[in-house]
Amino acid sequence: MAHLLLRHRDIKDIHKLEVYQANGGYEALKKVLAEYKPGEVIDIVKAAGLRGRGGAGFPTGLKWSFIPKAPGDKYIVVNSDESEMGTFKDRALLEHNPHQVIEGAMIAAYAVGAQTVFNYMRGEFMGIGRHIEEAVRDCYEAGILGDNIFGSDFSCRMINYFGAGAYICGEETALLNSLMGELGQPWSRPPFPAVEGLYHKPTVVNNTETMANVPMILLNGVDWYRSLGTEQSPGHKIMCLSGHVKNPGTYEVNMGMLYRDLIYGEEYGGGLLNDKKFKALLPIGGSGPVVVADALDAPITYEGLKPFGSDMGSGSVVVMDETVDMVWVAMKLSHFFKHESCGKCTPCREGTFWMDKLLHRIYHGHGTEKDLEVLQSVAGQIGGKTLCALGDFATSPVKGTYRHFANEYKAKVSGKKGEKAKTAVPAPTD
Ligand SMILES: Cc1cc2nc3c(=O)[nH]c(=O)nc-3n(C[C@H](O)[C@H](O)[C@H](O)COP(=O)(O)O)c2cc1C
Ligand code: SF4
Repeated sequence: MAHLLLRHRDIKDIHKLEVYQANGGYEALKKVLAEYKPGEVIDIVKAAGLRGRGGAGFPTGLKWSFIPKAPGDKYIVVNSDESEMGTFKDRALLEHNPHQVIEGAMIAAYAVGAQTVFNYMRGEFMGIGRHIEEAVRDCYEAGILGDNIFGSDFSCRMINYFGAGAYICGEETALLNSLMGELGQPWSRPPFPAVEGLYHKPTVVNNTETMANVPMILLNGVDWYRSLGTEQSPGHKIMCLSGHVKNPGTYEVNMGMLYRDLIYGEEYGGGLLNDKKFKALLPIGGSGPVVVADALDAPITYEGLKPFGSDMGSGSVVVMDETVDMVWVAMKLSHFFKHESCGKCTPCREGTFWMDKLLHRIYHGHGTEKDLEVLQSVAGQIGGKTLCALGDFATSPVKGTYRHFANEYKAKVSGKKGEKAKTAVPAPTD
């Protein structure tokens, strides 16, 4: 299958401007500037059914249509924070195919009447960020960024920015605060960024991979794009496969492919390491509930895992074999959320602290039946009661693992004190 996003796998040096242009690069932007009014671009992206690749799958064209039409300062922000556990797809784009992200973001800018694009990258991307910085510099030198692009009235500049490396700064309002030099904490909506975002001006925030989809839609048309993927989830998706598989890595798939094929397919994961038995997978890194073997035949789409109580999210798939202790998994994930909670709202700040503490106690063999009840109760009091979705995400490790592996929790609290941890399957490492 030809790559549409991870194009560097087929075309050597596509990160270089001349190679990108020799392979159709910036033709979509040229076409848009020559043939379409901004509103027409939004209509095309809407009709193509592109959905945000940052996790929630929100329709991209619809999001763009919320930006007020009146002239004035507006901004496009590319969300390259990519801090979800097991997610490493945006970095592949930034590092190896940066011009496709730049071109998509510029088309978005034209569509909503913005003249400035910010690309917000997590601090740890400092090294690979140089690739997109070089690509932006080359665009300025070639007149692709700057004033009167391709002889049109459209002017656009692009600024790369590095955060300090915080998971919460992937949440769009925390990201915007961070970009403005404020503390990276979410704000309460309304106001929504489309009305009052960066510098209190209308702002679109889209994921890096979302932007990389845009040029091909404008170049090849709605019907072509809709011929890929499924009716409700058109297009390709970059999946990040990790954990106990033979061939971990990024894979571009046609949406609708089965999770089983991604994990076991010869050209993909190649099956489980040492041919061990499959136990469970984390389909959204740490932020969504774990699923078990019955979900393997679900399609990779925004809808596929809903009947199994989970989601595709941004496309990270962490595979766990039969040796993995699920209480250990919950403990590690909860520790992450406790560390990454920004502390602004009480249920998340306190709840993540208590879940972390309880899970450590249970895992290390000092828990009681009562602790299991308290753990469930704390998890039940966070979801839906916080300012941003991190609060909901933080309950997934506990709720998801308990739903499928309550026996492992019970085994931990049913032995001699201090020795209870030995009653469950051993953890890979502690
Ligand atoms: C805690 C948290 C972390 C997030 N991290 C990211 C991230 O790293 N990258 C991303 O694109 N979206 C992330 N999001 C989602 C963004 O808030 C936003 O919905 C997304 O960037 C919109 O882009 P899209 O419509 O193209 O998907 C996160 C949301 C939350 C609540
Ligand atoms: S839910 Fe957690 S991360 Fe989100 S604003 Fe509240 S305290 Fe901060």
